[in-house]
Parts: sequence; C-alpha cells; structure tokens
Amino acid sequence: MRGNTGLKACAPLRSSDLCSFEGFCDISCNSFSKSPLSQTENNNIQMKRPDRPSDRRLRPLQIRRARKEDREAIWQIFRAVVAGGDTYVFDPNISRRKALAYWLGPKTRCYVALSDQGIVGSYILKANQPGLGSHVANAGFMVSPSARGRGIGRAMAEHCLLEARRLGFRAMQFNFVVATNRTALHLWKNLGFKIVGKLPGAFRHRRRGFVDVFVMYRLL
Ligand SMILES: CC(C)(COP(=O)(O)OP(=O)(O)OC[C@H]1O[C@@H](n2cnc3c(N)ncnc32)[C@H](O)[C@@H]1OP(=O)(O)O)[C@@H](O)C(=O)NCCC(=O)NCCS
Repeated sequence: MRGNTGLKACAPLRSSDLCSFEGFCDISCNSFSKSPLSQTENNNIQMKRPDRPSDRRLRPLQIRRARKEDREAIWQIFRAVVAGGDTYVFDPNISRRKALAYWLGPKTRCYVALSDQGIVGSYILKANQPGLGSHVANAGFMVSPSARGRGIGRAMAEHCLLEARRLGFRAMQFNFVVATNRTALHLWKNLGFKIVGKLPGAFRHRRRGFVDVFVMYRLL
C-alpha cells in the first residue's frame, strides 16, 4: 500500500516519522504559538514523506502550531471543507467568526501544514472529554480541496498522533467519521484506528441524506 508508515494500533510511535514542530506549549494554552520561539521549540526535523508519484508531491512540507497571521488561510480551508456538507456537521454557511472560534478555541491546539503553496491544511488536537476522560485525545483535520490526495492529510495525522502521545494522551477518539467519507475512513484505518461504534443515520449529508457515522478509536 502506498505511503504505509507502519503505524498500527498500539504500535510505538517513532520520532523518525515526524516532520517539524514549532511552538509547543501545554495543552491548556491558547491555540496560537508563542513568538519568538525558543531554540528547543523551533527544532525542525525533516519530514518523512509517503512514497507517491513525484508529480503529485507537495514539497517541502512543514507542520507547525498555528499563528495569528494564519487565520485567513485557515478560514479559507474551513469554509471550502464545510461548504460541501459531506464531512462535518458545521453549517455549510457558517460565519468566519464562528468557524475560527471553534477551530482556534482556547482548549484546542491548532496546527497548520505548509507547502510551497502556503498553508494547505490544518488540524486541531484537544482532550475528547474533561476531567476523568481527558487522557483521550480528539482531533479534526482539514486539507484544502486543491491539495488533497498528496499526503497532506496523512502527514498531519501522523504528526497529530505523535503530538498526542508526547502530550501524554493515552488514546485518540474520532467521534464523528461520516460513513461515506471514504478517504478519511481509509486513512484512519490505515493509521490503526478501529471502528468502535456506528451511529445510524446520524449525519444529514447534503447530497445523500441521512447516512451513518462511525466512532473510531486507537490507543497511543
Ligand atoms: C480526509 C482528508 C483530511 C485527507 O487528506 P488528504 O491530504 O486528501 O489525504 P492523503 O493524500 O494524505 O491520503 C489520502 C489517502 O486516502 C486514499 N483515498 C483517497 N480517496 C479515496 C477513496 N475514495 N477511497 C479510499 N481511499 C481513498 C488515498 O489513496 C490515500 O491513501 P494512501 O496514503 O494509503 O495512498 C481530506 O481529504 C479532507 O480534508 N477532507 C475533508 C475534511 C474531512 O473529511 N476531514 C476528516 C473528517 S473525519
């Protein structure tokens, strides 16, 4: 299978799978990284990219914490993703303010993926539940429609798994994977997630009507 990273359920995550990190702070801090970055915060590690046809590759790819100046690019990606009404529950006509308030919320860590085309994707990482459930992470991923199928989503997911483990999370849960979202399902399964539950008809797909939703889970 193309781009198989060897990550399996419960398999140890390797730092060699990483791309670059910037601007770490603890899980409860704001989504935007602090600037200027300290030396240890700014240690860049070369990205290991999936084996893909060279004409499809987007290089170089860096993944780092989102900054204030990234908001417009994040909004453009968010808007394009939710407009489809096929992957997320957000109102396809959601306002910029509400979208950014969600994606860059105070308890959410937000990251962006950059190529030579600029910001091409973003993901968020947070605790799935407060208190006694806070050791389980939750994440959301969005790739610009024009950059899909080039390994950006996989790279962000691998980065996210390593970040979650580094931050002390013990597992990751996706609460709402739309059953018709074949790309996401393929990717999450390939990265070791198992379907642990099905919510019949829980999503009102813009074109297909009521479709099932999967809850997916893996240990870190
Ligand atoms: C899901 C998403 C994040 C994936 O990002 P991406 O950059 O397009 O994905 P990648 O290029 O890294 O990988 C796509 C994988 O899915 C596979 N894929 C693509 N279309 C597919 C399909 N219709 N059926 C099965 N697999 C498919 C690709 O072959 C690739 O697998 P491989 O790495 O094993 O070759 C992106 O498509 C997206 O933003 N979608 C809209 C928002 C969304 O669905 N978010 C996730 C919500 S759970």
